Amino acid sequence: MPLPGATLCDSDATRPWDLLHFRNGRLVKSPLDSRQKGKQENDHRMVVIAIDRVTKRFGSVVALGGVSLQIESGELFFLLGPSGCGKTTLLRVIAGFCVPNSGRLLVGDRDVTRLPAHRRQAGMVFQSYALWPHMTVAENVAFGLQQKKLPKSVVAERLEEALVGVRMEQYAKRKPNELSGGQQQRVALARALAIRPRCLLLDEPLSNLDAQLRNEMRLEIRRICREHRLTTIYVTHDQKEALSIADRIAVFSRGRVEQIGSPLEIYKTPKNRFVAHFVGETNFVEGRVLSMEEKVLSVETALGILLGVAVDETALPEVGDHVYLSLRPEVIRLRSEAIDRNCFEGHIMAMTYFGEVAHYDFVRNGVRLKISELNPRHLGHNSEETILANVRPEDILILKT
Ligand SMILES: Nc1ncnc2c1ncn2[C@@H]1O[C@H](COP(=O)(O)OP(=O)(O)OP(=O)(O)O)[C@@H](O)[C@H]1O
Ligand SMILES: [Mg+2]
Repeated sequence: MPLPGATLCDSDATRPWDLLHFRNGRLVKSPLDSRQKGKQENDHRMVVIAIDRVTKRFGSVVALGGVSLQIESGELFFLLGPSGCGKTTLLRVIAGFCVPNSGRLLVGDRDVTRLPAHRRQAGMVFQSYALWPHMTVAENVAFGLQQKKLPKSVVAERLEEALVGVRMEQYAKRKPNELSGGQQQRVALARALAIRPRCLLLDEPLSNLDAQLRNEMRLEIRRICREHRLTTIYVTHDQKEALSIADRIAVFSRGRVEQIGSPLEIYKTPKNRFVAHFVGETNFVEGRVLSMEEKVLSVETALGILLGVAVDETALPEVGDHVYLSLRPEVIRLRSEAIDRNCFEGHIMAMTYFGEVAHYDFVRNGVRLKISELNPRHLGHNSEETILANVRPEDILILKT
């Protein structure tokens, strides 16, 4: 029975972990010369995790439908998606708690698909914490270190470092049932970090913390990952958490990867409506393509003719195609004078003031747009009077699906 959250020493720890290369979506192993291999034995930066067409079914439910992705060494990689899309299942496959129906998992050049969890050198923080109820906080955190048979002084030093890191040092003697949910979550994080894993797997590690602690802890996680060049896979459904600290994000929906990219790429150039809608807020306006010049398209919509850019170069729309325009609330500007391009009039039907920002409900021809305005200037606007709005062409994203 694998131990929850524990990372035990891999007996193959001194094996060279070759780098993997992918060419045209196929795995190509790169053989290393012996000098490079010697250098790599102690170099965590060379570890690469490759998930290769992994499928996992539970009865008729397809939790993972042929997922492929590669995680670079030292990367803080996020799995982001709505509830039930397969995030935890993929993390459990990576940790070794779940064997896929098909597909492979490679760490370095090793196929570890069937390697037991305790030999994987991965530290996991479970969505449900999985702390041992009969052990104190200190015993929970020290357990993995003791299993490694480290000297007592090293165990004590690492234990303290881990507890201080998550600000739980004063709770060392308590049992898990004497802690709040957020405190238990922090102990689980300390336990995973204490053993200095090669790979850290975090399943919604901050979901039970209050907003301020969550902000602090996510910066702390990023600091620890950077400092130790730890390859980390972080599961969340909170897009702000992912956007703010990820190196790259894989957006999931129903057991499939919708898009992989940096936070900026995912937010600024979503490939489809699912990604645009799930990562950040947006308004969709339907239209038909009138003409196109390279990636700039002219589209007929209920707001008038709008210019925008096609984001997915692999699926460019054609003249006559039905498309969706994605306009983020912050790219729409309210204004008093007209300009010639991408300017349309409408009415502000409702507004909500939040201090530094206001949200407006802007309506034109049955199309409702949410607009956000920093340093609000249109709060007193009368809903009877028309008002103008405009968007730069590069801020209108044209999506086919
Ligand atoms: N042991 C299991 N037996 C049957 N179905 C399962 C099992 N584990 C997961 N599933 C199903 O597989 C799908 C994916 O579940 P998973 O736990 O991976 O989702 P998730 O993305 O982590 O969701 P959440 O954000 O709610 O934690 C869901 O439909 C879930 O009901
Ligand atoms: Mg989950």
